[in-house]
Amino acid sequence: MMHTNQNGYQFYPLDQSFLAPLNLLSDEVFGRDYLLQIGVEDDWEKIAQLVNPISFCVVKGGGLCAARISYPPGQWSHLSAFKKSQPELWPFSPEDVGYFKLSMVHPAHRKKGLGKDMANFAIAGMRSMGAKGVVTHSWNQSPGGASAQYVSRLGFEKVAETEGFWSEYAYDCNECQNDPCLCTASEMFLKL
Ligand SMILES: CC(C)(COP(=O)(O)OP(=O)(O)OC[C@H]1O[C@@H](n2cnc3c(N)ncnc32)[C@H](O)[C@@H]1OP(=O)(O)O)[C@@H](O)C(=O)NCCC(=O)NCCS
Repeated sequence: MMHTNQNGYQFYPLDQSFLAPLNLLSDEVFGRDYLLQIGVEDDWEKIAQLVNPISFCVVKGGGLCAARISYPPGQWSHLSAFKKSQPELWPFSPEDVGYFKLSMVHPAHRKKGLGKDMANFAIAGMRSMGAKGVVTHSWNQSPGGASAQYVSRLGFEKVAETEGFWSEYAYDCNECQNDPCLCTASEMFLKL
């Protein structure tokens, strides 16, 4: 365990021992098979071996409450998210820019500052790795507009928008309920 926040949530570095609960939480938050489809598993060991944890699982009372998955600066150009990004609109070169890939908080644990804590913890890790900025793709259809509001409060600014950003993945989106998912992503940039 690496950190306990003021509400007693325990942060653990992300590793494969969390795979089953992570899949269950992702099914509930985004839709069935989302985590399997987005291809994180290819990078699992690489993510877990980072000296500065920027990806973690959050546990309380023995259950998984939240998770964040992030990539260090210059180490995410292999992701399809990068190929759909517009680096020419960023203020820094891709080698200096990290990526926030996934953030999810179980509905019962939302609005208690957990999402913000996870982000701030990861931002500190990004800084220590020399990142000048962080990109994320905010989910426009996130319930209650939570995603857009959440990343804006962290200081991210919109640089672009992509319709059908997740349409290549065969998962059952909880929000648009289309197959493939037709939700829109806002590409957001945070200067560190
Ligand atoms: C987005 C999400 C991670 C936020 O987690 P959280 O732990 O509830 O967030 P926090 O309590 O730390 O709140 C952080 C900020 O987000 C905003 N926010 C959170 N939930 C919100 C909601 N339902 N509606 C509007 N704003 C919301 C608030 O502005 C808050 O800042 P403030 O307290 O300074 O005003 C969570 O709602 C979630 O998992 N949503 C579904 C998945 C998702 O959209 N993930 C993509 C994230 S980019």
